[in-house]
Order: sequence, then C-alpha cells, then structure tokens
Amino acid sequence: MISRQDCLALDAKDPLAACRERFALPPGVIYLDGNSLGAMPRAVPSRMQQAIEQEWAVGLIRSWNDADWYPAPQRVGARISALIGAKPNEVIVADSTSVNLFKLLVAALRLRPGRKTILGENGNFPTDAYVASGVAELCGVQHRPVAPAEVMAALNEDVAVLTLTHVNYKSGQTFDMAAITRRAHEVGALVIWDLAHTAGAMPCDLNGCEADFAVGCGYKYLNGGPGAPSFAFVAERHHEALRQPITGWHGHAKPFAFGQSYEPAPGIDRMLVGTAPQMGLFALEAALTAFDGVDLQQLRAKSLALTSLFIRLVDQELSEYGFGLATPREDGLRGSQVSLTHEQGYAIVQALIARGVIGDFRAPDILRFGFAALYLSHADVWDAIALLKDVMSSGDWQKPEFMAKKAVT
Ligand SMILES: Cc1ncc(COP(=O)(O)O)c(C=O)c1O
Repeated sequence: MISRQDCLALDAKDPLAACRERFALPPGVIYLDGNSLGAMPRAVPSRMQQAIEQEWAVGLIRSWNDADWYPAPQRVGARISALIGAKPNEVIVADSTSVNLFKLLVAALRLRPGRKTILGENGNFPTDAYVASGVAELCGVQHRPVAPAEVMAALNEDVAVLTLTHVNYKSGQTFDMAAITRRAHEVGALVIWDLAHTAGAMPCDLNGCEADFAVGCGYKYLNGGPGAPSFAFVAERHHEALRQPITGWHGHAKPFAFGQSYEPAPGIDRMLVGTAPQMGLFALEAALTAFDGVDLQQLRAKSLALTSLFIRLVDQELSEYGFGLATPREDGLRGSQVSLTHEQGYAIVQALIARGVIGDFRAPDILRFGFAALYLSHADVWDAIALLKDVMSSGDWQKPEFMAKKAVT
C-alpha cells in the first residue's frame, strides 16, 4: 500500500523540488494539464512588462535593432535545441506547429522527387493528419496513415516522408525514434517528428537518432503561454537543399535589400516566413529559463516516477469505478502523461476540475493527465487521486453542470 506519507518522503529527496518556485501556480490547484497549456513561469511577466513598456512604448521601431528583436527566432530556437538533442543552428521558432509541418512536408517531398507516399499513423493528432492530407492533395501524392504497430512494415521505397508524433497525444505512448528513423533511412525515406508532447517533458536526442526534421509546440511543456510560436528543427545536412514552400521575406537571404525575386536564406533561417510574433517569442524565451540548470535525465526520472505513481494509485484506490488505462505501464513506452478511459470521462473531468484538479478530456472517452516534472510533486499525485476517488464515491460527476459540454474540452 502506498500512503501519502510515502509520497511526502519522495518529495523530500526530489532534486527538482525547488523548480516549482519558478512557476506561479494558483493555490488550491493541482495542475495536470501542462501537456495542453504549460503553467506560467514567474520570469514571464517582468519580461513582458519590459517588452511592452520600454522596448515597444519607448524604443518603438528602433527595438528591432536596439533590443535585439530581430534575431529572437534564432535565439529562442538555440535555447530549445538544448532540450531536444539538436545543435543551436538547427532550430528556429516561427509560426504554429501546423504551419511548420506544412513547410517541412512539402520540403521533404521536394527532396524525394518521384516518390508518391506520405506515410503517417492512425490516431495521430488531427492537425498532423489534416496537414499531411492537404499537402498530399497539393503535391499529387498519397497520404497513407497506418496503425502505429505497422509503421515499420509500411516503410518502403515509395515513401518520401514519414510523419509521426513521438508521444501520442491521447495515449501518451512513445515511438522508438532511433529504430524508426534508421529503418526509414534504409528505404531512402525522410522522417518528420512532431515533438509536441516531448520537448520539455523528456529528453530526446534528435542528432543521436540522425533525425531529419522535427516540429513542436511552444505552449505545452515549454510553458510559452497560449498560442506561443512553434519550433522547427532541420538537420544541418539538409539545410542547403531545403526548399520550403512559403517563401516569405523573412526567409530571404537579404530581406532588407527588397529585391523582387526570392533567394532562400542560408541555414535554418530559410524556414522563416514573415514577421515573427515577437511578444510570443519573448514570453517563450523568458519561460525557457525555467529549465536553467535542469538535468534532463533527472527530469525524465521524476516524470516516470510521477506517472508510474499515478498508475499504481489508480490500481490501489480506484479499482471499483470502471476506469481503463490507455497508457503503457512500461516506463520505456510512456511519455509524461497518463490517460484513463471511462464512458463518463467528460463529466468526471469536469467534476474533478471543480475540486481543483485540472486535467482534460479527449473524445470519446479519454481522461488525460499531464505530469510536468518541474512543478508537480508526488504528494500532488496522491491528492489528485484522492479527489478523483471522492468524485467517484460521491457520484458528484452526475450533476447536470458537469454534463454540459464546453467549447474547449
Ligand atoms: C501532437 C500535436 N501536434 C500539433 C498540435 C497543435 O499544433 P498547432 O500549434 O498548430 O495548434 C498539438 C496540439 O495539441 C499536438 O498535440
């Protein structure tokens, strides 16, 4: 039997415990939704205040030079590179994940002329599938999603590019990045990894796996705030040949020469399109200081400790309430979230949120709980389970206010 005392003992020897102070979390809330929108790092408000009241209000347009606004996409990309096993000059921050995926899919197809397939996975996050279908239609190739277990076997010489999400948004299950990338390269295909649920949640070694391309969100485990811009990774060996389709002026070799024909910028800069969302970049840049000095192996160890504790407590405390587990029990196959299934999942999540435990719901029956190891404790896990048990034993989830569907679930 695991007790709350056991959880407090684990917290007492947690090497990352002090990182919680880097976040402004409201009292009475256990935040298990950092896989959707990360909590706010305390470093963000003062940076935003300076950006607005000084750099914008006083510096005006001079701040593009004087406050170093212009190189922010590269600067923030370099910070993220350290979290995903890339070199600083291989990552840039721009646009949304969907848009970066579009740019990289078209660029990958252009690098593999004659090949007719974009391979994908069933059950990927919808935007990944929608964008792949849209690109397939635009470029006259097929988008072929297969079951995750069949990805390896479906890789053949007709595949130009494989697009996968490293940690599935619903189940939290991981793909083996090294093995899949190796197999793709054996048949001459390229791979785009979506790291939306990886970056900032667990270490990942893009260059160690010889990855080609990656994209990911700034607003989840990187804590950049709602609508934070996304990042794109392009391995250095592809820089010179890369031709992405949205040929905007910020991706031009000489944007301020205002020439009439497009010439791609050298290196990763050619992934840029237009003027960056500077405020979002500044918030993300400040947010990333929450990772200063953090050992990513320790982050992974704590994340696995939290998710496995949650699973064991579901077994111990909630066995009579009809929950299923949609996330692998095996540590090596799990990202940083745990998903439960229940046919009344939506109402249960709403009743839980009313008790201060914030998770989310994904149709048709998934209750999703994300575990950001920088700001959660083992005692939080215990308390969240205790409150979930209370929701179930009291039958509170059946109240009409918890049944009514909101626009964002
Ligand atoms: C795997 C994955 N990719 C992409 C996105 C979203 O992309 P965008 O930043 O374009 O909204 C999400 C959002 O939850 C996601 O889970």
